[in-house]
Formats: sequence, C-alpha cells, structure tokens
Amino acid sequence: MLASASAMIESSSSTASRKRIAVISGDGIGKEVIPEAVKVLKAAAAAGGREVALTEFDWGADRYLRDGTTLPPDAVEKLRRDFDAILLGAMGDPRVPTNVHAADILFGLRFKLDLYVNARPCVLFDKRLTPLKDRTEKDVNFVVFRENTEGLYVGMGGFFKKDTPDEVATQEDLNTRKGVERIVRYAFEFARRQGKKRVCMSDKSNALAFGHDLWQRVFKLVRAEYPEIEASHQYIDNLLMQMVRDPSQFDVIVTSNLFGDIASDLGAALAGGLGLAPSGNIHPGQVSLFEPVHGSAPTIAGKNIANPMGAVLAVGMMFAFLGWAAEAQAIHDAVRAAIREGKTPAELGGSLGTREVGDWLANAVAKSGAHK
Ligand code: NAD
Ligand code: IPM
Ligand code: MN
Repeated sequence: MLASASAMIESSSSTASRKRIAVISGDGIGKEVIPEAVKVLKAAAAAGGREVALTEFDWGADRYLRDGTTLPPDAVEKLRRDFDAILLGAMGDPRVPTNVHAADILFGLRFKLDLYVNARPCVLFDKRLTPLKDRTEKDVNFVVFRENTEGLYVGMGGFFKKDTPDEVATQEDLNTRKGVERIVRYAFEFARRQGKKRVCMSDKSNALAFGHDLWQRVFKLVRAEYPEIEASHQYIDNLLMQMVRDPSQFDVIVTSNLFGDIASDLGAALAGGLGLAPSGNIHPGQVSLFEPVHGSAPTIAGKNIANPMGAVLAVGMMFAFLGWAAEAQAIHDAVRAAIREGKTPAELGGSLGTREVGDWLANAVAKSGAHK
C-alpha cells in the first residue's frame, strides 16, 4: 500500500495522458527547492513513460517590486482552463513587509480556485529524525486536513482610528456550514478510502461559542454516517500537547484554517523537519496546487542549504492526485532511501546541498523505471 504522503489519490479533471503543470517558484528558498522538485518530477515522469508540459510563472516578490503585479487578473481563469496541477515554492520576502503579493497570490489561488482541502501528511520516514524520545515510524503517521478557504483567513475586518491610542482592529472568523461540512466529510471519506481507523476533529468551541459550535454540530452529523470510523474531538490546545505526548493516537486530524496551519508545522517537526513536509491544496476533480509546507526562509536563501524534500514530496502528492500512483510511490521511495543512506541536507543531519539532494533523488527515481 502507498505510504500516506503519496496516498491522496483523487482523480483530476483532465483524462488526457499528457499533464499540464504550472510552476511558480516564488520567493527565497522557493527558487532553490522548486528547480530540484522539477528535476525529480521530470525524472519520475520519464521513468514511468508519462508526458508532462511545464509552464513557469514568475509571480512573486521580484515581479511585484518590478511592475506591481501580484496575481495577474486572468491567472485564475487560465490556470483552471489550461492546467491540471500547480507546483508552488513559497511566497514571502523581507522587501515586501506588507506581504501583499503573498496574500494576493497564495490566498488568491487557494480561495479563487476553491481549494478547500489543505492536506498535510506528517510521516516519519526514519526514527532517527524525530525529536521525540523512544518514538518510531509507526508512531508518527497521520495527516492534517486543514480547512483552506475560510476561517480567520478570509480577510474580513479592518481598522478604526488607526495609529491613534483609541485604535480598534477586527478580524472576523468566518465559518460556513457548507465549508465546515465539506472538509469534515473529506476527512471521513479519506479515512474510509485509506482504511484509517480514527478521525479527530479539533476546534476551540469552549471559547468560540458561535463559529466553533457550528464545527461541533456539523461533526456530530457527519460522523454518524461513518460508524466504522472512531471519531473523537480534542480542543486545539490539548491537541497540540497530545501530538507531542503521543502522536500514535492520530490517523486523521481535521481542523480549521488557522489551527491547521499551526498543527501542521508542529507535525512537520515531529516527522523530522519543516523542510521535509509536503502539502496539497486540493479541490477534488479540479486543478489543484501542491507546495512544501515551509515558507521562503529568507535567512537561508541563496546558500544551497535548504532541504528540497518537502517540495519533492509535494510533486509525489501531485502525481498521486493526477492518478500516477507508481510514479508517486517512486518519489516517496527515493526520499526514504536518501534518508536511510544519509544523502540528506543539513536540516536532516547530512552534508549535501540543495542541488546535490535533488540530483540524488532524480537519479534514484530514474533508476526506478523498472516499475513501469
Ligand atoms: P519558514 O518556513 O520560511 O521558516 C521557518 C524555519 O524553518 C526557519 O528557521 C527556516 O530556516 C527553516 N526552514 C524552512 N524551510 C526549510 C527548508 N526547506 N530547509 C531547511 N530549513 C528550512 O517560515 P517563517 O520564517 O515563519 O517565514 C518566512 C517567510 O515565508 C515569511 O514571509 C512567511 O510569511 C512566508 N511563508 C510562506 C509560506 C508559503 O508560501 N506557503 C509558508 C510559510 C511561511
Ligand atoms: C502556509 C503559510 C501561509 C498560511 C502564510 C504564508 C500566510 O504559513 O502555507 O502554511 O498561513 O497559510
Ligand atoms: Mn504555515
């Protein structure tokens, strides 16, 4: 069976054999990890006899600072019409302190393409990588499903009397019945499809008596439709503590946008490091976006030290989404082999640079052509 990092199998909208992939490297280490991920993408596609057409887009801080463009007005329509999947590096640059380009591009794509599932697998490849004492691969193997189109991220709110001693700032937490139900249902459907036994919903309904009361009520209704799956609930503060204390209790976690953002960085650390964590921003059956969980890491950018494995595993998730299960598995296996053989970057205790890790992985998947 596929390991969970590459197991997000959904059928994409296009059934054509050639897949059209948009590539947005973005900022900082995005510009270093994406070329490595593309190397591995091409090697895995070639090994499996698959055809890909890649198109690069220069959206990010450089372009914004050059001509003011963030997400071009026709971008969403073009991506929906002409592409099967999107590979993105990271957005964020100290020269753009407002983060406006990142909000327009990253949130723009998540919201406007309605990518309501943010799937973030937390899979420990080798027990040497976890900071937790006496934990092994079987203890850290879960996925966080983060609601990706609403919650505290919708940008509703504003300032009143800005920059005065009487200033007021509001930020609305938007939860819709449709939005909550579809992500909770996705988590249960995933568990059913993958033979996972447990789904844990996390909220803060003891304090957020309206928005998260909705999460409680929807969860109760949906869980009743999946009697074979053990459904539980943990408040988010307890959940984060439990993830550290005993991660083996989790198979599937489903939570809101902000809480999922936080829980997935913690999950990445438990699985060995932020640079190793992939994610998929998915709308089943429609063009979807795959990216590492990490950001642009400006302090290590340009030094050839960033770990490209999260970006590479994001390609694995993309291939699984596109229905290329064997190629997805080959990518997963290559990362596992690199870790086992110590062909790792500094983040994972090794001495290889970003490019050298990419070369090693591309070579490993090229050799895996036997699986055709
Ligand atoms: P970050 O993920 O960029 O970095 C957090 C820490 O992890 C840093 O110590 C960094 O050096 C390290 N790190 C991250 N990725 C790594 C990798 N591949 N290999 C080795 N080490 C790695 O988060 P941050 O520092 O909070 O944010 C930096 C910028 O990135 C900000 O502008 C932020 O908004 C943005 N960001 C963007 C995304 C995205 O585009 N999806 C995600 C997170 C943060
Ligand atoms: C992520 C990032 C983004 C988020 C930031 C850059 C706004 O942290 O993709 O996890 O919070 O969604
Ligand atoms: Mn994040």
